[in-house]
Order: sequence, then C-alpha cells, then structure tokens
Amino acid sequence: MDIKALIFDLDGVLVDTAKYHYLAWKRLAEELGFFFSQENNERLKGVSRVRSLEILLEVGGLQFDEEAKTKLATKKNNWYVDYILKMTPDEILPGVINFIKEAKNQGLKTAIGSASKNAKTILERTDLLKYFDAIIDGNKVSTAKPDPEVFLLAAAELGVKPDECIVFEDAEAGVEAALNGKMRVVGIGSEKNLGHAHLVIPGFENASLASFLKLAI
Ligand code: G6P
Ligand code: MG
Repeated sequence: MDIKALIFDLDGVLVDTAKYHYLAWKRLAEELGFFFSQENNERLKGVSRVRSLEILLEVGGLQFDEEAKTKLATKKNNWYVDYILKMTPDEILPGVINFIKEAKNQGLKTAIGSASKNAKTILERTDLLKYFDAIIDGNKVSTAKPDPEVFLLAAAELGVKPDECIVFEDAEAGVEAALNGKMRVVGIGSEKNLGHAHLVIPGFENASLASFLKLAI
C-alpha cells in the first residue's frame, strides 16, 4: 500500500517541550514539598496531563480528591503556558522543516496527532501551523495513547486509510497507539524504549523520506 500521509506527534518530535513541562511539574512538586527528578519526568512523555499529575503525586506519596487535582493541574498548566507563549521558530528540532517540505513537495499529506491541549499554541508560536493539513490534539480526542484514536482521527480528516500513513513518535505509548491503529511507525529517540517501532531514528537530521516510504507493515 502506497504511503499518502505522514502524522507527527508534536512534543518531542517537532519541538522539545519536555523541558518546559519539567520546569512546571517540578515547581508544583516543590510547592507540595517534594523534589521531582528529571528521571521521573521521562515517565510523563506522551502521557496525558491528568495521568501526569497522578504519576507526580505517586512520586510524592500524596493523595488529593478530584477537585483538588483539577486545581493542581490547572496551576501547572498556567506555568507551562507562560513558557510556551515565549517559544520561537528557533526551537523547532533540527531537520524538521526540511523533512516536512520534502514530504509536501512529494504530494504527501501531513497531520499532527498530539495528546496536548496546548498543541495549537505551540504550532502558532513556532510558525509550524502552516505545514499541516489536519491538527488532532488533546481537545479532540476522548481516549489517550496507546489507544489509536488520535491517529485514526488524523487519517480520517486527511481522507486516507490507516495503512497509508506513517506516524512519527517519541513516546512508547505513542508507538503502541500507531501500531494499534495498524499504521507504520518511526520512533524518534532510542531503540531502548521504542523498539516496537518499524524503524527508530535519533531525529530528522539526515532522515531519509525515501527509506520510510519503503517500510513494510
Ligand atoms: C504530550 C506530552 C506530555 C503531556 C501531554 C499533554 O503528550 O508528551 O508530556 O503531558 O502532551 O499535554 P498538555 O499540554 O495538554 O498538558
Ligand atoms: Mg511526544
């Protein structure tokens, strides 16, 4: 089956926002009286905001009711939004723009498939919005990765079938989501945690679109 579309996760694939998520979560942990390490922050990649808070509270050994949790998540998000509002196109990861331009020149469709409710803000600030034919983000989905909903919605909005798509993902849950959606998936990062992907690359610098188009499912 010929590839007709590329679907990109946003955080960790096109831009590095994990550092901003970390600063905001760490500040929340400090307010709650414990230290949240960078290592623990790795566990939040690709994970929804609510689930991220639950993991953070597990680390701190704390429990809150739903109302208090909503307040904490909002507090963290306000700090996070302060950071991403200051983002610029310089923060797009190396090789990304050239890769997307090449794909568009070859007639491929492109979409964002992200768990983030802040995806639009990030895409606007970094001037990436114009490169995508569809944006499916945390405001449009009801189930989190590894459920394939976000990627299936992206394919549907682009008018292509799942097996005509390649997904690019940096998180384990995202790789599983793409596989659950019967899509090809390229992992961005290391083989260690993304080993289930059809192919793993360190980033888009020197990435070969031609070799991805030949990936067998
Ligand atoms: C991405 C990030 C996660 C983040 C999630 C929700 O998947 O990798 O770390 O928790 O989006 O982001 P949001 O901006 O809605 O809090
Ligand atoms: Mg990601």
